[in-house]
Amino acid sequence: MITLEKVKNRITGELSVPGDKSISHRSIMFGALAEGSTEITGFLESGDCLSTIECFKKMGIQIEHSMRPMNGVPLITVHGKGLRGLGAPYSTLYTGNSGTTTRLMSGILAAQSFETMITGDASIEKRPMGRIIKPLTAMGANITSARGNDCAPLVIKPVNKIKGIAYHSPVASAQVKSAIILAGLYTDADTVVYEPALSRNHTELMLRAFGADIHNEVNVYGSATAVLHPGLPLHGMKINVPGDISSAAYFIAAALLVPDSELLIRNVGINPTRAGIINILRQMGADIQEFNRDDSIEPKADLLVRYSELHGNANGRFEIGGKDIPTMIDEIPIMAVIAASANCETVIKDAAELKVKESNRIDTVVDNLKRMGCDIEATDDGMIIHGGKPLHGADIDTCNDHRIAMSFAIASLIAEGTTRIIDDHCVGISYPTFFNDLNKVTNR
Ligand code: S3P
Repeated sequence: MITLEKVKNRITGELSVPGDKSISHRSIMFGALAEGSTEITGFLESGDCLSTIECFKKMGIQIEHSMRPMNGVPLITVHGKGLRGLGAPYSTLYTGNSGTTTRLMSGILAAQSFETMITGDASIEKRPMGRIIKPLTAMGANITSARGNDCAPLVIKPVNKIKGIAYHSPVASAQVKSAIILAGLYTDADTVVYEPALSRNHTELMLRAFGADIHNEVNVYGSATAVLHPGLPLHGMKINVPGDISSAAYFIAAALLVPDSELLIRNVGINPTRAGIINILRQMGADIQEFNRDDSIEPKADLLVRYSELHGNANGRFEIGGKDIPTMIDEIPIMAVIAASANCETVIKDAAELKVKESNRIDTVVDNLKRMGCDIEATDDGMIIHGGKPLHGADIDTCNDHRIAMSFAIASLIAEGTTRIIDDHCVGISYPTFFNDLNKVTNR
């Protein structure tokens, strides 16, 4: 448990947040499937990404951690063995709390010549896997839920052939899209995934950089397609992982909420499929400036954030929904904390996916913000936040969800009295040094 008080000082200085979680996972996975070595700097050494490393080590992939000679930057080297180089693991693959590891790996495992069982912690064993079982089965895979409830543990048996499909995904989910694409690497016909809105496209961008023939198309209505022509080998490469915008979002929020703050956050990944929170906050009046933009494979920039009084439209309302939701799906908890202080009513809709994240994030956000005195109500696909009421300290039940712990640590900065975060250790899933960084910028 951690006890936090309202902050007395403004938020100042500069900070670099740890590497992007989604990109870190993929750097290990694609590095393992490539021919030759992949060298990764900026890798996120957190619980989730270490789960991915452990799974690939169990399948015979050598992965080394070292300090780069001279400048002390940690370097991870993955000794790839090509698409057909994985070996049968000696026991069940354990993915911890990581939905990305579970779903993306299942796509890879569906095409292997050995049987695997894959599962994770109690949260993973409740999250829906039918969404990958269905398309992978349509591709010819033999993948079943061991308990018959469409959840992990999943049993994946070898089959003679995986075939390319055109799949219309009912949800905009990068995990579903990526599982299908990864299985598609092993087919001899195109794989096409349609989604209602473009979800994060790190798989497409990174696989292309590794040598695959893959691209996205987005139509005028916002619905999107990923197209993979299989057959090209992947080649090891150097990857520099940018800072995670999902982690930066907590500090963007801190600087916006605490009066007189000014914070520079360096080297943040701003891929448009992830940067929705920046666009939305700017529309609400946030002062967020970009410097040193670099548009290589994954766009990145330094962000300068200043305290801002946030507001809605002329009618005193602000609506977040539609194709913006996938671009900020992991930032909705911190967005709700920010909206609680904004001078408007914020409606978050089209976000039913929040119910199947590490916790049911509609319930965990609404319950904990209510405890802090916020006027908020849950809806079927989001929440309505009547902003502007001062928050007070409370006991926060994170349900072991890292993003809830960090969002409410930020809320505590402006809440009168004491906030206690009951199971704060869960921040290690995506941001092990979060509380150190928070102390640094709050000058505590
Ligand atoms: C992720 C995709 C998102 C996101 C998750 C990471 C990824 O999930 O919520 O934290 O790395 O592909 P969905 O694709 O299921 O929405």
